[in-house]
Amino acid sequence: MDKMVIHGGERLIGEVQIGGAKNAALPLFIAALLTDEEIHLHNVPALRDIDTVEKLLRNMGITVKREGFDATIQAKSLDTIEAPYDLVRTMRASILVLGPLLARAHGAKVSLPGGCAIGTRPINLHLDGFHALGAEIDLEHGYIHAKADKLAGTTIDLSLPTVTGTENLMMAAALAEGTTIIENAAREPEVVEVGNFINKMGGQISGLGTKTVVIKGVSALHGTDYTIMPDRVEAATYMVAAGMTRGNLLIKGARPQHLKAVIDKLSEAGMEIHEENGGLRCLMTGSIKSVDAKTLPYPGFPTDVQAQLMAMMCFANGLSVISETVFENRFMHVGELKRMGADIQVEGHSAIIRGRGELSGAPVMATDLRASASLVLAGLAASGTTEISRIYHLDRGYERMEEKLRVVGANIRRVKA
Ligand code: EPZ
Repeated sequence: MDKMVIHGGERLIGEVQIGGAKNAALPLFIAALLTDEEIHLHNVPALRDIDTVEKLLRNMGITVKREGFDATIQAKSLDTIEAPYDLVRTMRASILVLGPLLARAHGAKVSLPGGCAIGTRPINLHLDGFHALGAEIDLEHGYIHAKADKLAGTTIDLSLPTVTGTENLMMAAALAEGTTIIENAAREPEVVEVGNFINKMGGQISGLGTKTVVIKGVSALHGTDYTIMPDRVEAATYMVAAGMTRGNLLIKGARPQHLKAVIDKLSEAGMEIHEENGGLRCLMTGSIKSVDAKTLPYPGFPTDVQAQLMAMMCFANGLSVISETVFENRFMHVGELKRMGADIQVEGHSAIIRGRGELSGAPVMATDLRASASLVLAGLAASGTTEISRIYHLDRGYERMEEKLRVVGANIRRVKA
């Protein structure tokens, strides 16, 4: 397994280009299942998770062609309606095939995703929603057996604004008979992206970005082409990197309207952030201030940036309380940061960080995607050398991270196992 070796202390100065959003690209690849015509996607990020979703679709007999940042997908016919355990367990977003398969093939056999490092990750809201739309759902031998001769529009009231749950149900409802109303829908930009994409395919979805999404079912959807939005979590990660190394970065492609909570929080921590040349200029001239944060569904502070902010707070001088309200176990990075000398106390859903202004490099282990990003950031700002093992977690959601960081001055290299 590859390792990342970082010698800390370099200020990051220069430009970083943000890639296409992983959490938009994944559902858009799968939404191609909703039509038998060709779909053309642009600005597709080069990530492990994209390779996985490509394998998943190919496994079902769907043609997928990737050239650079473009992909052509055509679900002309389906060889199988199954998403097998070995693929679903490596990428839980595979459960997004349920909606399109029910709509298109009137059935699906999808492995239950199981839990992951950050929580049990139930999918009850997805399944209850499909049942409300008229599907029969059976769970047997670790698989979801779903079938629906037809889907009928209805009102679905989500007890939690689940991101992939909203996406899954939108895709099913797009080809259902009648109108579906999703109350307490997720408002994330990636969810809006999926709705915009379906509308470009001939769908009729309104209310995107609000708590109430209305989907008027249509009889068929057609092919289209679409350019994927930039990855706001990748952008936020490099914004924090600029702050932690007291650097000065132009983060090209970052959309400020997707990052308001992050911009506000990092400004509170002492960063200067303003729009420049179609991106965000991020610099830290003074010292890092301790701030409190609480993760919330969009437009609140994103849970996917929680670990990165925690790494930054270790370099402030003072007390910071970070509460994780979205997932029940998303503090796996705490133990690793403590190996670097961090003073962090976890109490229930909150982590109390006593920033000492510095960390010392150490061998650490990545446990999940965003935790591994927080360890890279900590290594960039720590004194001495940090070695991060199991960085396959990082490759799931960050494209060429060590190259992008080296270009702006980081002393970082990937050591092949
Ligand atoms: C999406 O996961 C993202 N993944 C996650 O990003 C992100 O952290 C998360 O949304 C929250 O923003 C993709 O989009 C592929 P949820 P998702 O359903 O949809 C509970 C990353 O790092 N819940 O919004 O799985 C759930 O347990 C990844 O890129 C139920 O109880 O998240 C959690 O506590 C990590 N029942 C909360 O809702 C359900 O049926 C939010 O989960 C569904 C969810």
